[in-house]
Amino acid sequence: MKTYEVQNDTSKTEKHTPYIEIPSEVKPNEPFQVTVQVGKDIPHPNLVEHHIKWIQVFFEEEGRAFNPIHIATFDLGPTYAEPKVTFTMKVPKNGKLIALEYCNIHGLWENSADVKVSE
Ligand SMILES: [Fe+2]
Repeated sequence: MKTYEVQNDTSKTEKHTPYIEIPSEVKPNEPFQVTVQVGKDIPHPNLVEHHIKWIQVFFEEEGRAFNPIHIATFDLGPTYAEPKVTFTMKVPKNGKLIALEYCNIHGLWENSADVKVSE
């Protein structure tokens, strides 16, 4: 059963899909930096009436029985906080990083990026 619609239109004119920046390769259990940004090319409005409310990040670890793993939640206030977050994480093996963001008018949007782990 599908309970909600997640949008991920990546056409040039949209400004909601979260853009994920990670290293092309990481080492097992070694910290690396992740940046998630909404409106990278075309800024999203940042007003009390229309803003990005939160950004969440999950990790789907290859071969793990229970997925995805919650990594981080960023609760953003309108006007002052920009919808761009950077944090540090580590993973033991390959997987998929999933970013969700919520716009108070346009709803839930997602994007994902493969995390490649090598010794
Ligand atoms: Fe919006």
